[in-house]
Amino acid sequence: MAPDPSPRPRWRLARFDELSPTELYELMTLRQRVFVVEQRCAYLDADGRDPLAWHLWARDPAGGPPLACARLFGPGAGGAPASIGRVLTAPEARRQGLGRELMGRAVTACERLFGRRPIALGAQRYLERFYEEWGFRRVGPDYDEDGIPHVPMLRPGDDAARPRGVERGRVRLRPIEEGDVDDILGWVNDPEVVGNLAAFSGEPFTREQELAYVRAMRASESDRVYSILAADDGRYLGQIGLHQIHWRSRVGRLSVVVARREEMGRGFGSAAIASLLDLAFADLGLHKVWLMVFEHNHRSRGIYARLGFRVEGRLREEYFHQDRWHTMVRMSLLASEWDPPAEERSARAP
Ligand SMILES: CC(C)(COP(=O)(O)OP(=O)(O)OC[C@H]1O[C@@H](n2cnc3c(N)ncnc32)[C@H](O)[C@@H]1OP(=O)(O)O)[C@@H](O)C(=O)NCCC(=O)NCCS
Repeated sequence: MAPDPSPRPRWRLARFDELSPTELYELMTLRQRVFVVEQRCAYLDADGRDPLAWHLWARDPAGGPPLACARLFGPGAGGAPASIGRVLTAPEARRQGLGRELMGRAVTACERLFGRRPIALGAQRYLERFYEEWGFRRVGPDYDEDGIPHVPMLRPGDDAARPRGVERGRVRLRPIEEGDVDDILGWVNDPEVVGNLAAFSGEPFTREQELAYVRAMRASESDRVYSILAADDGRYLGQIGLHQIHWRSRVGRLSVVVARREEMGRGFGSAAIASLLDLAFADLGLHKVWLMVFEHNHRSRGIYARLGFRVEGRLREEYFHQDRWHTMVRMSLLASEWDPPAEERSARAP
C-alpha cells in the first residue's frame, strides 16, 4: 500500500510584535542551525532588522519546531523595493517541495501586504535558477557576503496594477490619473460639495495645484487614491482614497467625496466605500481603516455606521472651518469586523 501523502504544513505570517517569545526563539534557532552552523558562516544573524520584518514560517501540523521560514520587508523610503530574505528550509525537510511553497507564499504575501511592487533578494549564487522560477532576475554582478557568493536579484513590479482598481456592482474604482484634473476642478472649489470636508477651507485651488496633487498622490507610498466611475457608462462620480497609511501598523485613513449634488443619495458613496474596504483589507492587507467626520454630518455618519464603522471618540473643536469651530467624530473599522451589508454584498462584482 502506498504511504499516506505527508500532511500539509501549517503556515503563519506575523509581524515581529505578534511573535511569542517561543516562536521567535524557534525561528532564530532554525536560522542559526542553517546559516551559521550548516553553512559554517560566522555572522551576526540577529542583525537588528527583525523588528521591521514580517515573518513567514511553516511547521508540521503535528507540532515540533518550524521547518521553513523567510522574512519580508516592505518598500523603503525613496522607492526602495520590498525584499525577501533569510529564506530556508530545515535540512531534514529539503527536496520535498517545501522551499518552493515557501517562496510562492512569500511573493504572494509581499504582493498582498505592499502591492505589486518590485521585490529584491540577495540570492546565494547556487540558487539563482531557483529564484528565477518566481520571476526574479539578476540585476548586477556577483558579490561576496560573509564569504558566500551572492547574486543581486529583482522581481519587477507591476506598475500598471498599482494600486489595483476594483469593480463592484454600480461603481468602479480606478487609480487616479492626471486626466482626472478637470473633473476634480469641477467640484473642488464648490462650497456645496466641499462644505463637509475639513481639508477644503482655504483659497480656491488652481489647475496647477490640482495637477501637483494628483502627481503627488500617484507617487506617494502612504496614499492610495482612486477615481470613482459609474460602472454602466464610466462617468466620473468622485474621489475616494486611503491616506496616511502606516504600513508597519497597517492602518490608513479613508476619505471620500461624491462630486455632484445630483449624484448624492443614490448609493454611489456606499458602494465606493465598500469597494475601497475590500481593497484595503483584502489587497493591501490593512488591519484598520479610520476616518474623521463632522459631528453634525449625520448623513455620512449613518453611512459609515451602516458599513460597520464604530465611533472611537470626539475631537472637540478640532477644525476651524467656514467661520467657526467644528467638533469631529473619529470612526474606525477593523479588518476582522468587515462584513459588507447585504445590498453591497449582492452588488459585489464576480
Ligand atoms: C534553498 C532551500 C530553501 C530550498 O528548499 P527545498 O525545500 O529544498 O526546496 P524544494 O524541495 O521546494 O525545491 C527544490 C528546488 O530548490 C533548488 N535547490 C535546492 N537545493 C539546491 C542545491 N543544493 N543546489 C541547487 N538548487 C537547489 C532547486 O531549484 C530544486 O529544484 P529541483 O529539485 O527541481 O532541482 C533550501 O535548500 C535551504 O534552506 N538551503 C539552505 C539555506 C539557503 O541557502 N537559503 C537561501 C538563502 S539565499
